[in-house]
Amino acid sequence: MDGRAAEVSRRFEGAFGGEPAAVARAPGRVNLIGEHTDYNGGLVLPLAVDRDTRVALRPRADTRVLGFSRERGASESELAAPPASDWLDYARGVARLLADAGRIPARGFELCVETDLPQGAGLSSSAAFEAAVALALLGAAGVTAQRADRPELARLCQRAEAEFVGVPCGIMDPFTVLCSDAGAALWLDCASLESRPVALPDSLALWIFDSGVERSLRSGAYAERRAECERALGGARAALARPLASLSELAPEELAGLERALDPVALRRARHVVTENRRVRAFAAALTRGDLAAAGAALFASHASLRDDYAVSCAESDALVSESRALAGCLGARMTGAGFGGCTVHAVEAAHATGFAPALAERFRARFGRTPRHWRTAAAAPAELLAP
Ligand code: GLA
Repeated sequence: MDGRAAEVSRRFEGAFGGEPAAVARAPGRVNLIGEHTDYNGGLVLPLAVDRDTRVALRPRADTRVLGFSRERGASESELAAPPASDWLDYARGVARLLADAGRIPARGFELCVETDLPQGAGLSSSAAFEAAVALALLGAAGVTAQRADRPELARLCQRAEAEFVGVPCGIMDPFTVLCSDAGAALWLDCASLESRPVALPDSLALWIFDSGVERSLRSGAYAERRAECERALGGARAALARPLASLSELAPEELAGLERALDPVALRRARHVVTENRRVRAFAAALTRGDLAAAGAALFASHASLRDDYAVSCAESDALVSESRALAGCLGARMTGAGFGGCTVHAVEAAHATGFAPALAERFRARFGRTPRHWRTAAAAPAELLAP
């Protein structure tokens, strides 16, 4: 067990007395490219980041669920109670689905959680929490989730968030957190769930900047985008008279023919999805042939599409992206995650990595009067059971 896992165990002992039955950790994720494509059957290319959430947990004989979060304080509920709009909902949602699937007994538990992932910043703190809870609950029941089980577990975490917490998110976040490889980004086709690791060259440094604009997936704008995509899909099916499973099945050259069939908003949303899938392919191909300039250009183009066609950016994220263009060594940048605030990701030539961040922070401060939080990140290990 590493030092931070030992710390969450100690905190568990302080909160509940006695040792936890299982300890697990799960990283956050940053998406390099392929945004708002996962729920449209498209391509994504995220990586697990080197910040994580750690949980220590012990099953109870009854059905009470007691939680203590270093960041959010204490909470308490019943396993079968309806969602309470509280952080413990995520853990109860996962536990209930695991119990429904017959993988663990339907019992309550005590849970202690700590994280160094910023909450609500678009780095998937919720999927990290769900995945760590899932691995710890299975671990406490004597099961270590094998690699082959993990895609199914990712689906279960997604369902817990959609069906229990009420956030209709896609598969990208839990899949990345549970199924990526240490040291590599993850290519994922969200229609088939086929995935493969994508190596990142040492000459590429990644910086994450937090716009400081807090977003909440519950705010409704995310669900609104999903509904707009459904509308676009319905319109495209009718106009093309073929059974499209998702917007990602549209060919780029079919878009022009949809101009009359779709309302302007639906057309822009569809165009983002179709062009974003193309940019994911272009980005991965550019990395493979070592063309970092072309990879970076795909990131800038993705941001423009998210800002203009998908309308999910904000002034602070736009500024972080446009200001970084002028800085030495910056190859590309874009907002990452759902948007409406949250973080941006910046691809920088490693030789310029240290000068880049203070220069960008200063430019942001000059415009918005505060210094944004930022971190250099690298592809980290996926979620794991640390004990037993
Ligand atoms: C959030 C969701 C993901 C994905 C992104 C946008 O992070 O949880 O499923 O839809 O937004 O790409």
